[in-house]
Amino acid sequence: MGKIKLAPSILSADISNLYNDVRRAEDAGAEYLHIDVMDGHFVKNITFGTNVVSALRDKSKMVFDVHLMIDNPNEDNINAFRRAGADIITVHAEVVHDLEGISKIIRNTGARAGISINPDTPLDTIIGQAKSFDMVLLMTVVPGLGGQAYIHSVTRKIEELKRYIDEQGLDIDIEVDGGINAQNINIPVMAGANVIVAGSAVFGCADISATVMELREAKNG
Ligand code: DX5
Ligand code: ZN
Repeated sequence: MGKIKLAPSILSADISNLYNDVRRAEDAGAEYLHIDVMDGHFVKNITFGTNVVSALRDKSKMVFDVHLMIDNPNEDNINAFRRAGADIITVHAEVVHDLEGISKIIRNTGARAGISINPDTPLDTIIGQAKSFDMVLLMTVVPGLGGQAYIHSVTRKIEELKRYIDEQGLDIDIEVDGGINAQNINIPVMAGANVIVAGSAVFGCADISATVMELREAKNG
C-alpha cells in the first residue's frame, strides 16, 4: 500500500474565505483536496461546480479529488471538471450502469478514475469491475452532508476490498469519506484505507493547521 493521503473536504470550509482555508490545509501537509459536487438530485444539497475547481486550480498544488454526487455523470461534465483542473474524478455506482464505460471516459481525459458506493450499497456491485478504476471510494456516511458520524459497519467493507485488491495484486487506492477525525482515523486506516477524507474535522475546527497535522500524525502512528 502506498503512503496514506489526507484529503480535506471543502464542504466544511469557510466559503467566504475559501482560499485561506485551502492554503492552510495545504501548508500543513494535506496531499489531496476533496471537492464535493452535489446536484440536488442524487443528494439534496447543491454545492460546487467547475468554476470553484478552476478558481482554486492556479492557487494550489494539491491533488484535486472531485467527488461527483450527481445523478447522471456524463462525458460533458466529466470533461468540464477535468478542464477545470480535477486530477481524480469519482462517480457513484448507484447511478452508473456501465462502469467500465465511465472509467474509460474519465481516463480518456487524463484524470484518474474513481468509483464510489454508499454505505448501504454492497461491495459486490463493483468489486468485479474495481480493476477498471484507480480508486474505490467507500462512503462511511450517507452522502449529502458534512458532520455526520462514521458508520462502523463499513469497516468490514474496507477490509474485504483491501483483501481483494491484495489477492488480485491490483494497484487501487481505497478512499473513505465521512465522519473521520483524529480520534477514529485509525479504524479505516487499519482496515486498509489509504486516502482519508476529512471535512468538518479539518475545516470545522478553530485551528486548521494543527488539526491537519494531528490527523497526519494519527494516521502515521
Ligand atoms: C458527504 C461528503 C463528504 C463530507 C465529509 O456527502 O461526501 O466529503 O465533506 O464531511 P465530514 O468529514 O464532516 O463527515
Ligand atoms: Zn465526498
